[in-house]
Amino acid sequence: MGPGLILPATLLPMVHLCLTLVHGVEGRLPPPVAHFLFQRKFQCHFANGTAGQVRLFDRYIRDRQEFVRFDSRRGDFEAVTEFGEPDAAYWNSQTEWVEYLRAAVENCRLNYLAAETGHVVGRKVKPTVKISFTKAEPLSHHSLLICTATGYYPSEIKIKWLKNGQEQTEGVGYSEDFQNGDWTFQNQAMLETVPEQGDVYTCQVAHRSVEEPITVQWEPQRSDSANSKLWTGAMGGLLGVVLGVGGLSLYLRKKKALPTAPAAGLMSQS
Ligand SMILES: *[C@@H]1O[C@H](CO)[C@@H](O)[C@H](O)[C@H]1NC(C)=O
Repeated sequence: MGPGLILPATLLPMVHLCLTLVHGVEGRLPPPVAHFLFQRKFQCHFANGTAGQVRLFDRYIRDRQEFVRFDSRRGDFEAVTEFGEPDAAYWNSQTEWVEYLRAAVENCRLNYLAAETGHVVGRKVKPTVKISFTKAEPLSHHSLLICTATGYYPSEIKIKWLKNGQEQTEGVGYSEDFQNGDWTFQNQAMLETVPEQGDVYTCQVAHRSVEEPITVQWEPQRSDSANSKLWTGAMGGLLGVVLGVGGLSLYLRKKKALPTAPAAGLMSQS
């Protein structure tokens, strides 16, 4: 078995399935519909790798409703809905077929070992962690800090918010972990808070892919509008000083000139 090679649990059931669809479904179809969705899913469940219990399911689904399944723990087929009862009865009477599926659990073990050598089992991808900040409402002091971890595998992750080194539990919310469809996950932890100058917020993310938690920090900064007010104030102050100095020097020059000017004026008048 080469690395990464996953064996289909069995190919034979597909042949069997077609026979059953012809045999089993006859005479008990609901009123004809233009389209329906048929799915069959094999699942291997591992309680603890191949050391713990391994359980095989062979599920039959019509329009998203599972109607009959083989469960290796039971060792036979069970009807999930009334629609599946004839199937369960029919397949359970096919002892060879049931024996075959019971033995197929072994394929789950083989697949697990193949997946391990192909690094599918035990695959680890580090999360990327980012903090974003939004005001809860334009005029409110409350802010929302959002810590987003993306692109990691496997799905188990712990995201914590710390304020000045203290873990926060109040005002913390988590989103559902979200599967990206490319074998990576993402999740968010939100913290509602009133940030003040000097506070340090830390998002701490623990994941199997990293030995030490990943930490990202955030500190409140003067908002842009506060910055522009400060700038305007400083410019106003500077302008005031310039005008003041200008005015003063003009005044002083005038004052210095005053005693002579009238004399000159007087002299020119005379
Ligand atoms: C899982 O299996 C390993 C052996 O591979 C064993 O050491 C461990 O105790 C088992 N864990 C549980 C929870 O059963």
